[in-house]
Amino acid sequence: MCAAASKMDELVEQDLAVGNGPQAVGEAGSQAELFHWPIVTEEDEQAVLEVLRDGGRPSGTDISMQLEAEMAAWHGVKHGLTYPNGTLALQTAFWAAGVRRGDEIIVPSVTYWASAMPAFALGATVVYADIDAATLCIDPNDIERHISRRTKAIVPVHYCGHPCDMDAILPIARKHGLKVVEDVSHAQGTLYKGRIVGSFGDAAAFSMMSAKSFAAGEGGMLVTDDDGIQQHAIAYAHYARHATLEHPDLAPLGGIPFGGIKGRLNQMCSAVARVQFRHYPDRIKEIQAAINRFWDLLADTPGLRAHRPAADSGSTMGGWYSAAGHFLPEELGGLSAEKFCEAVRAEGSDTRAGCNFPLHLHPVMNDVDIYGDGKPTRIANSDRDLRQPEGSLPAAEATRGRVISIPYLKHDRPEAVEQHAAAFRKVALQANKLV
Ligand SMILES: Cc1ncc(COP(=O)(O)O)c(C=O)c1O
Repeated sequence: MCAAASKMDELVEQDLAVGNGPQAVGEAGSQAELFHWPIVTEEDEQAVLEVLRDGGRPSGTDISMQLEAEMAAWHGVKHGLTYPNGTLALQTAFWAAGVRRGDEIIVPSVTYWASAMPAFALGATVVYADIDAATLCIDPNDIERHISRRTKAIVPVHYCGHPCDMDAILPIARKHGLKVVEDVSHAQGTLYKGRIVGSFGDAAAFSMMSAKSFAAGEGGMLVTDDDGIQQHAIAYAHYARHATLEHPDLAPLGGIPFGGIKGRLNQMCSAVARVQFRHYPDRIKEIQAAINRFWDLLADTPGLRAHRPAADSGSTMGGWYSAAGHFLPEELGGLSAEKFCEAVRAEGSDTRAGCNFPLHLHPVMNDVDIYGDGKPTRIANSDRDLRQPEGSLPAAEATRGRVISIPYLKHDRPEAVEQHAAAFRKVALQANKLV
């Protein structure tokens, strides 16, 4: 038996902390630095100060354009464009991909609202697809039934860092003449079968807000290999760059952003993003090592399964944003995810039941008349009632009891990782005491 396993066994065999036993997580696993993100050094601070002290540079574009070139090269595409946040990058990507009034986009129900809601601002609407219970990403087998004559785009979200099944999604889009806009906000640097996500669709957009694995403070990015999308994106929100427009339909109209929105990113954030980017490959490698170690230690634990691609698939979890796991109550005598998580927290680790709320059930989606049309916006922006009731997307709805968060480790410290894994295994193995 290896030393790690025997140490873990010792921790796991003790009484549960909720039953007044000792906590599984000790000093090694309690260091705040284990979870602190982003990692900021003098290099980041210096980069910000240089921008701040140099007159008009926060509102300039030189550093942002350097960042854009780096992001485009990283994704193997021609163009990058910065935004103040990921939401606006997505809104622009949708518009530049051709989404207009009355159109529909197909989005997985389990994601952050910004993958979907920008459609409303464009006069368009959203149809939700179910997720694949294993990947937690859009289920390619649940896309075609949602396609109508008004569908313009599919939005694969690489959820919690897991890549979507692009080999299945892209042929569906091609068959129906739809655009693919990837939401990479959780998955910067994730590989799908050896290739970086964000390089598969007609365009990709992502957030760089401070909690994200690629964190610039705030910010968003659009990357695309498509000249037309890039030109339309500039027209929509980057009016200060309209002099660069070459598209014959757009160039004569420059000067005012079509979207009535300013897309310029504060260059203090661009400067931070450039520094973060230099260290990003090493830092996400360490996150992957830590969280893979965590799951390897839990390999045969009842009730728990890793949320990650197969080790030999060539796919990765990027910066493993908002790390999650599968919870199987049927293997734990029916113990609820909430009760399980409560007991793990008592052990000194951190976990919560569920992930993003299924958007197809949210009242803002279904009932709210945002623009004064006399009916809910989801319907007003369409010519049919698109509401999707409870029971219509079962895998998305099941996440509430079958997905839990896991400690979002940023450093691969074996003793600390073992303590957190022990907290989960201890509760799983003693689940009978909690049911
Ligand atoms: C999946 C997803 N898409 C889009 C966004 C929006 O990005 P931002 O917050 O930078 O607007 C977020 C999170 O913030 C996200 O999690």
